[in-house]
Amino acid sequence: MTFPSRSRRDFLSTLGALSAASVAVPPLLRGDAPSVVSPRAATSPRGLALAPDDFLLAPGLTYLQTGSLGPTPRPVLDATIAAWTTLEGDPAGQGYGPMEHAMEEVRAKAASFVGCKKEELVLTNCTTEGMNWVAQGAGLVAGDRVLTTDQEHPGGRVCWDYAARKFGVVLDIVEIPPGENDAQVIIDRFARAVTPRTRVFSFSHLLSSTGLRMPVAELSALARSRGCIAVVDGAQAVGGVAVDVKSLGCHVYATSGHKWMLAPKGTGLLYLSEELGTAIDPIALQSGRGAYTASSGVCSLPSVLGLGAAIDYLSTIGIARIESHNLELRQRLFAGLAGVPKLRVVSGGAGALASPLLSYVLPKDLTSGALHQRLRARHGVEVKVVPGNWFNGNRISTHLFNTAQDVDTLIQALRTELA
Ligand SMILES: Cc1ncc(COP(=O)(O)O)c(C=O)c1O
Repeated sequence: MTFPSRSRRDFLSTLGALSAASVAVPPLLRGDAPSVVSPRAATSPRGLALAPDDFLLAPGLTYLQTGSLGPTPRPVLDATIAAWTTLEGDPAGQGYGPMEHAMEEVRAKAASFVGCKKEELVLTNCTTEGMNWVAQGAGLVAGDRVLTTDQEHPGGRVCWDYAARKFGVVLDIVEIPPGENDAQVIIDRFARAVTPRTRVFSFSHLLSSTGLRMPVAELSALARSRGCIAVVDGAQAVGGVAVDVKSLGCHVYATSGHKWMLAPKGTGLLYLSEELGTAIDPIALQSGRGAYTASSGVCSLPSVLGLGAAIDYLSTIGIARIESHNLELRQRLFAGLAGVPKLRVVSGGAGALASPLLSYVLPKDLTSGALHQRLRARHGVEVKVVPGNWFNGNRISTHLFNTAQDVDTLIQALRTELA
C-alpha cells in the first residue's frame, strides 16, 4: 500500500471539515491550545508529510514530543479504522481468517523494515512488553549479572529490577552523565564493568534522557566477545532514524510502534535473533512467534494492520530522507539554543552520536515542569519534561512532520520565557 498525494480538492475539503467540525480537535487540546490560532498552522505543509493535511495535530499546537507518543497520520488512521470496521462485520471469521493472515504480512513487512527475517520478529504492544518478555525468558539465575546504564527508561529497566528481585540477578550500572558525547569512553566503561558472571548487556539505542546515540555495534560486539546477550531498547529509534538490526549486531531489539513509527498506540516490535535459539523463552512465546498464538492470545488486530500502514507511510517517504530531515531540524535547534539564556544543552553537536532528540538543562529556580506549562499555555508548544531523577530539563523531538518553523517557534518561545 502506498499513499499518493491527494488532490487539491480533497485537501481543501478536508481542511474545511477540520475547521468546521470541532470533533476533529480533542477537547484537551482545544482547552490547552493558545487562544490565537494561526490559520497557517493548519494549512501549511508539514515537513515530509505525503499530503498537507495528513497530520491531525490541533491547530496552533507545535508538537515536539514524538519521543513520548507520535501522531498517527491520517492515511494510517483511516486504514486502522477501516480494518476495525471490517473486523466488526464478522469478528471471528475475520480475526482468525483473513485478518490473521494480514497480520502475518505486517509481521513480514516490519521484519524487513528493521532488517531481519519474519521468523525473528514478534509483534508486541510496546517496547516495555518486549523487554519484559526478554527478562522473564532469559533463564537468568541467582548470581548472574546484567550490565546496563543509569540512563535507561523504566520501560527498559523495570524488567531487570524484576529479575534482580525474583531471580537474584545482580545489576551492574554504567554511568552516562548528561553531556557525555564520547563513544569510546562509554565502550571503555562497559568493558571495565563486565564480569565473568555477566550474561546480558542491556542498553538503549537512543537515550531517552539526552538522545545520545549509543555505539550499539561496538557494545554488541563487546557483549558477544564476552559470551553475553546484547539487548537493545530501541524505543526512540525505529521510524526516526534508519535501523538495521543485523548490522547493529545485537541479539535482541525492542521498539514501539506508537512513537517514531507513527503507528497506532499499543503497537511494538521485538527482534529475537535466530542464533538465540530458545535462550529467550518467555511464557508469551511458548506457542511460537506468530501474531496470534495460544500463548500470546488475541491482540488489537486493527492496530497491527495500522502498524503495517504506518510502515508503508514511512517507506513511501524513505527512512534515509526522514533521518536526514530530522537531524537537520535538530541541528537548527542546537544552533538556535546557543542564543537562549539560562539553559544548557546537554546533547552533543552534530556527529555520529547525534539523534533527533535533544535536551537542555534549566537552572534550579525554574523547574522543567513549570517551563513546560508555560510553553504549552502561552505558546502552544509541547515538549517533554525529563524525569527529575535524570535532570531538570526538557527534551525536544524533531520528526518528519515538523518544520523549521516549529523549531523557530520553540526557540522564540524559550527566548521569551527565559529572558
Ligand atoms: C528508551 C525507552 N524505552 C522504553 C520506553 C517505553 O516505551 P513504551 O511505553 O512504548 O513501552 C520509552 C518511552 O519513552 C523509552 O524512551
